[in-house]
Amino acid sequence: ENVNPKDLLELAVRLADEAGRLLVQERPRDLGVADTKSSPTDIVTVMDQRSEKLIVEGILAERPDDAILGEEGSDRQGTSGVRWVIDPIDGTVNYLYEIPLWGVSIGVEVDGQTVAGVVEIPMLRETFTALRGDGAYRNGEAIRAYSAQSEGKPVPLERALIATGFGYAARRRAVQGEIVADLLPRVRDIRRGGSAALDLCSVACGRVDGYFERGAKPWDLSAGALIAQEAGAKVGGLHGAAASDEMTVAAAEGLFEALCGFLEGHDAARDS
Ligand code: IPD
Repeated sequence: ENVNPKDLLELAVRLADEAGRLLVQERPRDLGVADTKSSPTDIVTVMDQRSEKLIVEGILAERPDDAILGEEGSDRQGTSGVRWVIDPIDGTVNYLYEIPLWGVSIGVEVDGQTVAGVVEIPMLRETFTALRGDGAYRNGEAIRAYSAQSEGKPVPLERALIATGFGYAARRRAVQGEIVADLLPRVRDIRRGGSAALDLCSVACGRVDGYFERGAKPWDLSAGALIAQEAGAKVGGLHGAAASDEMTVAAAEGLFEALCGFLEGHDAARDS
């Protein structure tokens, strides 16, 4: 099938917007945890489920032959070569606590390659989008992965503001804590925003200098990684690997290598 990535992005943007509105307008006052997944920290609310349902039904109404992978259980094979990778709320803990740093992330793959992505952050009124080869945008304006502090030059690690995230398993968290403790005295500061998709978009628009995380899943990364790359950042794993749940690092050239070097030196992809 001959698909136009622009059409896929248009549908993704519409559905992310609709899901974002649902999440703002229909959030119950007494929202609680509906279920836990891999650990007690790994939570699901009814709103994660409703958001995923809205997006999946919206995709299937227009493109019934596409594959879909969603954080809350959607795993559908397709025949068209197009796959949608959905995080219906990235930053669920923030959403639960009414911290405004959460969003809806939708990446679209054609024959296994991400070609379009949207990260919608309703409470910040920010819509990040990218089409492969066509740059990255926030609310329609082109963005670049250099902070105002960087003056377009590589930022040394000691002047970098680094975002990170933690997995849900307690043992892995203990290791992540050790690595952060060693990194903290060597950088400008560290942020744990609580949404991997937003962290990647923050690299893309220069709101942080770099990001790394072990354990982020395809739905956390799909759209945000494309957006960061299209904004000029490097996105990858350690020792030249591709970004994956093993490790994802994102930063502009220079800082990317420095951050990878630090993480490799600390064997940061270990779990104990
Ligand atoms: C989580 C957030 C968090 C990151 C975790 C993710 P969720 O996504 O992105 O920042 O540290 O790895 O699982 O569960 O809120 O969709």
